[in-house]
This record gives sequence, C-alpha cells and structure tokens, in this order.
Amino acid sequence: MKPIRTAIFGTGFMGRVHLEAVRRVESVEAAAIAGRNVEAARRLGEGFSIPTIATDYRDVLRDPAIDAVHICTPNAQHFPMAKAALQAGKHVLCEKPLATTVEEGEELVSLAVRQGVRNCVCHNLRYYPMVQQMRRLCEGGDLGEILVVQGTYSQDWLLYDTDWNWRVDAKAGGPSRCMADIGSHWFDMAEHVTGLRVNSLCADLQTFHSTRKQPKHGVETFANKPFGPEDYIETAVDTEDFGAVLFRMGTHTRGCVTASQVSAGRKNRLSIEIYGTRSSVAWDQERPDELWVGHRDTGNQIFVKDPSLLKPAARSYADLPGGHSEGYDDTFKQVFRRFYASIGAPDKAPEYPQFVDGLRQLAIVNAALQSHRTRGWVDVPAPESGH
Ligand SMILES: NC(=O)c1ccc[n+]([C@@H]2O[C@H](COP(=O)([O-])OP(=O)(O)OC[C@H]3O[C@@H](n4cnc5c(N)ncnc54)[C@H](O)[C@@H]3O)[C@@H](O)[C@H]2O)c1
Repeated sequence: MKPIRTAIFGTGFMGRVHLEAVRRVESVEAAAIAGRNVEAARRLGEGFSIPTIATDYRDVLRDPAIDAVHICTPNAQHFPMAKAALQAGKHVLCEKPLATTVEEGEELVSLAVRQGVRNCVCHNLRYYPMVQQMRRLCEGGDLGEILVVQGTYSQDWLLYDTDWNWRVDAKAGGPSRCMADIGSHWFDMAEHVTGLRVNSLCADLQTFHSTRKQPKHGVETFANKPFGPEDYIETAVDTEDFGAVLFRMGTHTRGCVTASQVSAGRKNRLSIEIYGTRSSVAWDQERPDELWVGHRDTGNQIFVKDPSLLKPAARSYADLPGGHSEGYDDTFKQVFRRFYASIGAPDKAPEYPQFVDGLRQLAIVNAALQSHRTRGWVDVPAPESGH
C-alpha cells in the first residue's frame, strides 16, 4: 500500500514529539519539515533522514505528493497554516489550541467540512490508557450519577519573571495563556471522560508578573537557560499565569479547576477527580499508570494499568502488558494511529478529537476570559457534535 506522506511544521518541542510519534505509525512516511529556523529544521530533519527541509511552509503545501500536515508552531500560526493547508486539500492535524479566537476556529471547522479532509486537534492527553478506563467507568455507570468534577493542571516553568516563552506574548500565543495552553487540555479531558458538557462558568484569572524579562534572543519551550541583565528587555505581560474556574456541567453536576504555570514543584500535573453517587476516580498525569478508585463502604483501590484488566473499550489504548509504563509520548502515537487510519478509510468515523472539539475549547476559554472581565457567570454555548 502507498504510504501516506506527511509534513511537520515547527521544529521545537512539539515538532520533535510529533515527528518521533509519526515514525511509530505504520504506512506513514515523514516526508518534509518546515521550520522558520532553517538550522533547527535541518538538524531535526537530518537525524530522521527527512528528504525535504523548507523555511516556508507554503512551499510544502504546494507539493502534491504531501497528503497531510502537522501544525506544531506557536498558537497564532495555527489559523493561517491550517487554513492554507485545508485550501491546499491536505489532511490537517493541528496542535492545540486550534486557533486564538472562536471566529477563527469556526472558519476552520467549516472549511474542513467543505474540503472533505480529515482534521484533528491534538488533545492527546485523552489517550492515556487510564483516562480511557475512567471514561468507560463513567459510561458504564460504575460511578453512578456524576456529582462533582474537580482538579488542576499545574506547572512551574513560568514561575520566575526571568522565565519567558512565546506563550507569554498574546500576539504569538493568543489572549489567554494558562487557560488556553493547559486549561484547554483539562476541560477537554473532563468533557471527554464524563460525556457531560460545561454549560456555564465563573472564572478568576491572575497575572502575577505584570512584566517579565524577555530575552533579546528567542528561547524554545522548557529551555530553562540562565541569562544576565544585558540579555533581556523588561516587557509588559497581559496573559494570565493562573486561572480558577467554577463550572456547571450537564443538568446538575458541579465542578472546579485551577490551571497554573507558577506552582513550584508541579511539573506537568494534570489531575482530575470525578465523584459519583456510587464511587469515585482520581488520576494524575505524573503517575499515569495508576487510577485511584474511591468507595464509601469498602476499601479504596489503586488500579494499576494492565490491558487484560481494562474495560474492553479502553484496551486498544494500551499497547504494552501490565508493569510496562505507557506515558506522554505514547498518547501521540494513539492519536496519530487513529488519524491516519481514518485517512485510509474514508467511511470510518473519526476516533480522535476533531477541529470541532478544538472549537469547543476555544468557546470555553473565551467564556473564561469574558467571565473574568465581567466578574460574573457566563453561559458556554452548546457544542457542535465532536468526538
Ligand atoms: N499537545 C500537547 O501536549 C502540547 C504540548 C506542548 C505544546 N503544544 C502546542 O504545540 C505548539 C508548539 O509549541 P512548542 O512547545 O512546540 O513550541 P516551541 O517554541 O518549542 O516550538 C515552536 C516552533 O515553531 C517554529 N515556528 C514559529 N513560527 C513559525 C513559522 N511561521 N513557520 C515555521 N515554524 C515556525 C519555531 O521556530 C519553533 O521551532 C503550541 O501550539 C502548543 O500549544 C501541545
């Protein structure tokens, strides 16, 4: 069978993660890389023997041999790149957030439908095996009726005012930082796992550093390199370091979540707790193979990942036997495998988050920004159907 030829746009943290994960999917060939920094693109491409290295992604889009593209660039680039890729008839897998505004997201959703191509937004965190187990426990009624959903997504890599990244700058990252960057993953997971939808929320956002020391030369995500006063410009910041959101889901489920990029010691702690009328589950991304199951009348359990013990519908998300960890990198493989399988099977229903799910997160982030501005509760529009 002819391999699907794909291209990666962006050569930073995600560019490499995507490239490595693509290489783990059968019948896909990584054929091109586009990166603004040609040296970085060349370094990445050489290591993987990628035949085409481009500095302008539009050159890649003009190549009829390229079937699909991965967009792994800063958020503000997603909309123009995804739009151009859809117009060129490519299948598009875009990093989250899908765009920086709801209007852009809506345009991409309808353009993707018009073009009839596969589209995916990379809410990969859904695809830890234990997250799928939680989803199937909710779906199967094991938790009873869901009363409360709560949690956090906490990191510490932007704690100091010397920490800088393009995400801090609204022009590159969009009007929301913490909520769009990591809060969106949390809300996507909460809705995916419970099957419920957030219908209103009340948010309080905080920018602890009103200025940050912006390096005169660019830094890549999580680079953490030391620098002196001659190396930076004191720059005003208007994107949030932290957000706390109260929300209502379904008919009477209640919840709250915090998202933080300034929590010392918390590296990448997405934690979610779901409390039902029968039992509860809690999961922490920093210990991904473990699921806490809480009971009122018997002892609580720690369920350790083992495909043979997972709910049947969760099993295909675990490739390795019990005792063999599956982590962050593996979630990308799970998304990409399903995305590419759907390209080869046009009638197959997508089993991955689509642009419409990315638009959903833009609507939630937009409601959080509006709620913070107005200091009150805001309704979140009902979603278009996604997966
Ligand atoms: N799904 C996840 O778990 C996850 C994790 C981290 C980041 N992300 C998302 O991935 C995207 C990239 O984030 P990152 O952490 O990799 O950033 P990064 O700074 O490490 O890399 C961004 C790359 O984009 C390149 N770039 C910028 N403008 C470009 C252009 N016009 N053409 C080509 N390349 C360009 C930069 O040179 C850099 O190589 C963001 O949208 C972010 O939200 C997702």
